[in-house]
Amino acid sequence: MINKCETQLAEWIKLAFETAFGGDHDWSWLRVQPATDKQFGDFQCNDAMQAARNLRMAPRAIAEAAVAALPLPEMLTKVEVAGPGFINLTVNPAWLAAQVEALACTENFGIPNIGQGRTVIIDYSSPNVAKPMHIGHIRSTIIGAAIDRIHRALGYQVIADNHLGDWGTQFGILIQGYRSCLTEEERENLTVDLLERAYVASYNKTRDEEGWLEGCRAELVKLQQGDSENRAIWERFIAISLDEFDRIYKRLDVSFDLYRGESYYHDSLAETVALLVEKDLAEESEGALVVKLEAEGLPVCLVRKSDGGFNYTTTDIATVRSRIKEFNPEKIVYVTDERQQLHFKQFFTVCRKLGCDTTLEHVWFGLMRLPEGTFSTREGNVIKLEVLLDEAEQRALEIIKGSGRDIPEELQRSLAAQIGISAIKYADLSHDPQTLITFTWERALALEGNSGPYLQYAYARVCTLLDKYAESVSQQDPLSHTLLLHTGVERELVLKLLQFPQSVLRAAESYKPNVLADYLFTLAQLYSSFYQSSPVLKAEDAVRDSRIKLCAMVAQALGVGLNLLGISTPRRI
Ligand code: ARG
Repeated sequence: MINKCETQLAEWIKLAFETAFGGDHDWSWLRVQPATDKQFGDFQCNDAMQAARNLRMAPRAIAEAAVAALPLPEMLTKVEVAGPGFINLTVNPAWLAAQVEALACTENFGIPNIGQGRTVIIDYSSPNVAKPMHIGHIRSTIIGAAIDRIHRALGYQVIADNHLGDWGTQFGILIQGYRSCLTEEERENLTVDLLERAYVASYNKTRDEEGWLEGCRAELVKLQQGDSENRAIWERFIAISLDEFDRIYKRLDVSFDLYRGESYYHDSLAETVALLVEKDLAEESEGALVVKLEAEGLPVCLVRKSDGGFNYTTTDIATVRSRIKEFNPEKIVYVTDERQQLHFKQFFTVCRKLGCDTTLEHVWFGLMRLPEGTFSTREGNVIKLEVLLDEAEQRALEIIKGSGRDIPEELQRSLAAQIGISAIKYADLSHDPQTLITFTWERALALEGNSGPYLQYAYARVCTLLDKYAESVSQQDPLSHTLLLHTGVERELVLKLLQFPQSVLRAAESYKPNVLADYLFTLAQLYSSFYQSSPVLKAEDAVRDSRIKLCAMVAQALGVGLNLLGISTPRRI
């Protein structure tokens, strides 16, 4: 059901070309798209230029012959050829109304169910145990969650998997640090911050203190061999970290289907490496085992270190095998920062050499820059997400209080939480993930411009109008009215609404939630100019009812779209 309008119009164009030039040619490639300049029409077809190659005629003559071949169908009121051969189509308002009504009567405003029966695993957030989440994990969480929601809306079966960094040599250093660098009281009241401190202290001692490194190694070996005491300590590290991560996930309204950390794959690493050897893909090199990827233009990929230990890459290869075996997904999508690009290229290539034909996709993003001092703490440059979220809520609260409206304190706080958190999320989601951005509070919390609060207000404003209509005019469902599209801005709004499903699809295909964010922002802007120029409640009855119906549709599209981005939609602000 994607692009239904464009498809129907393209059908007519194809028929016109067939009629004009005979059925010998293949016209299935002809396309219709929304007009770039609305003063020439609603849609356009630019393919006469391409057709000129086969027909050996001037494009303009081709376009003219095609449009003259058939009578005007009911869905069109005008067809015009312009410039070198553009075909401009102006559609019939009643037909236009029917198209948008077809979207509005579905629950999710016409998002196509293309994912039905298809499974996708999305590996996102994936922070490391015993370390506070850094900005990379925050972005991975926010972008990953949006990609997750968008795929679910398209009907995919999504498995959101949090691939925690819960295994590796760092645990030897950490256990040693836990035992020797923390006080008993600190050990009892353990937090992720304390764990990080213990790690740093212990790590420093590996360089300065005789025998420390050996001690760490011994702790690691004990853990790996299943020593019950070290095992229990390690499990506690995980539990404490998860507790803290979950607090953040809850505030961000993010959840996972699986929390399979690296340790989950521990027992399949040796087998994975054995398979690489058996298939002649891995070879010895200075005591280590590597896969050469010269032919692919990539550096060698280490899969077993010279001390016999496995690494991040080995785990990721084993993870792919396990995921395919258990879930048979069509694709696996990884969301991490740009610094891991080589890692993903390498292990994807190794997986392919192993015969994996599942699509493996690395969705990377640049690190968001922060103006000097914005979130840095005294200890260094660590950005504590909780502090960031607290500040967002606090600032939103000040804005609400500053608006001078009479809202009960409790409601103020809940609104502040919704606006503050959404502002942070939207600041991230509204940019192409791969461009460099600098976060500023001013922009994130701006009430004007492409911001979370702007969209939340836009949504709340439409809802307020709908409520007013229900109170003072009629309780009848606005969607049951007749849609009359008399003015230019009404038409434009409907044409924009019709693009909603496509924008969701494009956001999914490109893994860029900003495609949807941009769409919602332009929709909100268009609504605002409609609202400013077109009285609703004061208009005469039929126009009023038609306009309120349009408002209800805008509310629906904005609501569904913001929800896909994880932006909350209070009906009143
Ligand atoms: N834990 C890793 C890190 O913090 C991210 C893991 C991403 N997922 C993966 N399957 N490699 O850098």
